[in-house]
Amino acid sequence: MADWANFWDRPNSIYVNDAHLRAHHQRLGDDLLALLAHKPGRKLLDYGCGEALAAERFCAAGWQVLLYDASRETQRRLGGRLRGRPGIEVLDDGALAGLAPGSLDAIVVSSVVQYIAPAALPGLLRRWRELLGGGGYLIVADVIAPDNSALADAWTLLGFARSHGFFQAALGGLVRMFFSDYRRLRRELGLSTYDARAFNALLSAAGFHAEHLARNPGPNAHRLGFLGRAA
Ligand SMILES: C[S@@+](CC[C@H](N)C(=O)[O-])C[C@H]1O[C@@H](n2cnc3c(N)ncnc32)[C@H](O)[C@@H]1O
Repeated sequence: MADWANFWDRPNSIYVNDAHLRAHHQRLGDDLLALLAHKPGRKLLDYGCGEALAAERFCAAGWQVLLYDASRETQRRLGGRLRGRPGIEVLDDGALAGLAPGSLDAIVVSSVVQYIAPAALPGLLRRWRELLGGGGYLIVADVIAPDNSALADAWTLLGFARSHGFFQAALGGLVRMFFSDYRRLRRELGLSTYDARAFNALLSAAGFHAEHLARNPGPNAHRLGFLGRAA
């Protein structure tokens, strides 16, 4: 296994068990829906959506949901689970490339930019800006700051696990993580990191009014969240 793209196409132990996966998406969905509650609009793209367990809740809140994940395996799984669901569309690379400028009202990118090379991010931000109509929202969550430690991630996981009833599983998950491909890749390839100032500057350069959110959406309060309003 040589890169992150390859990693996401294979089974991984990012979530320690099903309870963790569900609690993660519940919390992320709650926070994102709160941020979007006063945003008029219809069409939302979840970019790097993973298992997208909150997609139905976005639909129920009135959004038409487009799901995109670069992993072909994830696209296949999502297609199997959600095909035919009114209001939800799973995009492949071609469908993503075919989206028309100004056709979206909101884009969510949660826990993804750390896996994207810094040189590729400005182009992606410009593409997201192009896809959003004026006043559209880009929410970028779970951005990792340069001084973020793996220990802080572990500590946050344990706190979240304790309050959601999977503490023992989280302890086991941390041991598995220690010996996992994820940790090896994190050590060998690293993750892309940004402090708030650098990320705000990238958002501004791409044509957004940038705001560093007081609280990162999702369970990882120690990571950074941003709202870009399409200027
Ligand atoms: C940690 S998961 C986050 C999933 C979900 N957004 C969440 O917050 O729970 C990272 C996801 O990003 C996807 N991903 C990684 N690099 C990507 C890229 N360049 N473009 C789109 N998706 C990407 C992976 O396939 C994986 O599903």
